[in-house]
Amino acid sequence: MASVEKYNRVLTIGLDTEGLNLMTSELANVSMYHVDTDDKFEALLEDESEENFIPLIFCGPKLNQFSPYEVAQTIRNTYPQSRIIFILGTTEDLKISTLKKNGASEVFILPNDKSLLNMEFDDVVKLIGSAPGLTRYRAVQLFDIEPEDELPFDLSVFLPMNNKYIKVVKSGDKVRRQQIDKFKEKQVGRVFIDSRQTDQFYDYCAEKLADLNDPNSAMSETERKQKLQTSVRDLFATIHDGSDNADFEVGRQVMKQSESVVAKFLEKKTGISFHKQIEAALGSTEDSYTHASSVSAIASLLSMATEIGKPEDLALAGLFHDVALLGFKHDPYPGDEFVESLEADERKKYLDHPMDAQRVLKTKKMTITPEIVKIIEQHHERNDGKGFPQALSAAKIIPEAQLLSIADQIEYYGQFRPGEQRLSPLQAIDAIEKNGSISLEVLFKVRKVLKSESNISTRD
Ligand SMILES: [Fe+2]
Ligand SMILES: [Fe+2]
Repeated sequence: MASVEKYNRVLTIGLDTEGLNLMTSELANVSMYHVDTDDKFEALLEDESEENFIPLIFCGPKLNQFSPYEVAQTIRNTYPQSRIIFILGTTEDLKISTLKKNGASEVFILPNDKSLLNMEFDDVVKLIGSAPGLTRYRAVQLFDIEPEDELPFDLSVFLPMNNKYIKVVKSGDKVRRQQIDKFKEKQVGRVFIDSRQTDQFYDYCAEKLADLNDPNSAMSETERKQKLQTSVRDLFATIHDGSDNADFEVGRQVMKQSESVVAKFLEKKTGISFHKQIEAALGSTEDSYTHASSVSAIASLLSMATEIGKPEDLALAGLFHDVALLGFKHDPYPGDEFVESLEADERKKYLDHPMDAQRVLKTKKMTITPEIVKIIEQHHERNDGKGFPQALSAAKIIPEAQLLSIADQIEYYGQFRPGEQRLSPLQAIDAIEKNGSISLEVLFKVRKVLKSESNISTRD
């Protein structure tokens, strides 16, 4: 059987209704082969055709006789090279780590992981290539764009009235001033790129960021710093603007954009592959991956804009700050109830995690500089002296560690949690000021970056 043609490269196995609906609507023009019964599943396994390479297989929980663990294992054996993606609901009582051990490449839990799953769909489209009608768009935040800039990607806007994307700048074209003014007026979450061009887009942004961080750039010092601050502020404003109609999906996409751009920029600057580092330290199998990579990007961007510490140190400290906490679902911050709710050995693990990071990294044959070790060791210290592990007094806590703590808390407050309101970065700063964990001096610098005229004036 010519599987590739038959399945048009996408195969689904036992998806539940929600997963199936999502796939068929998001990938409307991709033809799929759905295995939705035990019989079809057995037939699939017996299919001994020579050409049984299927790059992408989406699996769910709905087969009767085969548990997702068994599906993962058998499909991995049959298709050793495929990317095997599980789409599950929150009600399924399955361990992500076990699924991955059994062969799953990635596991998404709906509805929480919807935006991450959407990015997976972007990759599907990338892989399948340019079938007609298959373009997927990703919201982006333009970075310090100038008239006459030549863009290495297409830029589109969305017209809600027509429910349509319109290409306004073609790849290789120069951007005109009027267009930029228009983007600036409307751009927050309103400019889109073809998801197949994300690499070009990230490269372009990383170049821009490198220029803004380069003391030898053609710009004057003042202009350079101002632009850097504006770019960072705009990114944070889009990541979550705190208003009721804020689009969470857009925020997540722009957060991902920031992570990729910062990682790319720092890779250029330091020669360190952030992707490899994080994989080596955390394994892509851990939930903590997302937390670490967000905190890393936030801390590094804040460092650039406030000139506290070195952006690369903050980025690495962000990646590894909770490396000794693997297995904990979240790094809950702040609040003592969580610590008290833990069993004795868990509590010890939690309270020791800042001090344990270096040792854990050593077991993975990774070393970090003493500066980074110190930032990590102090990331739960508090300005009021009530932090851990050492309950340091305010004067002893280095500003870099405070910046990392701010990033940790911005990330924490920005998450969805049942019964709580998500806070924008600026709202998070208010909450941090109230909880007394950070010195007013450091908070002032961060607030100054995040707040501007444009934050005060009304935005639609
Ligand atoms: Fe932590
Ligand atoms: Fe954390």
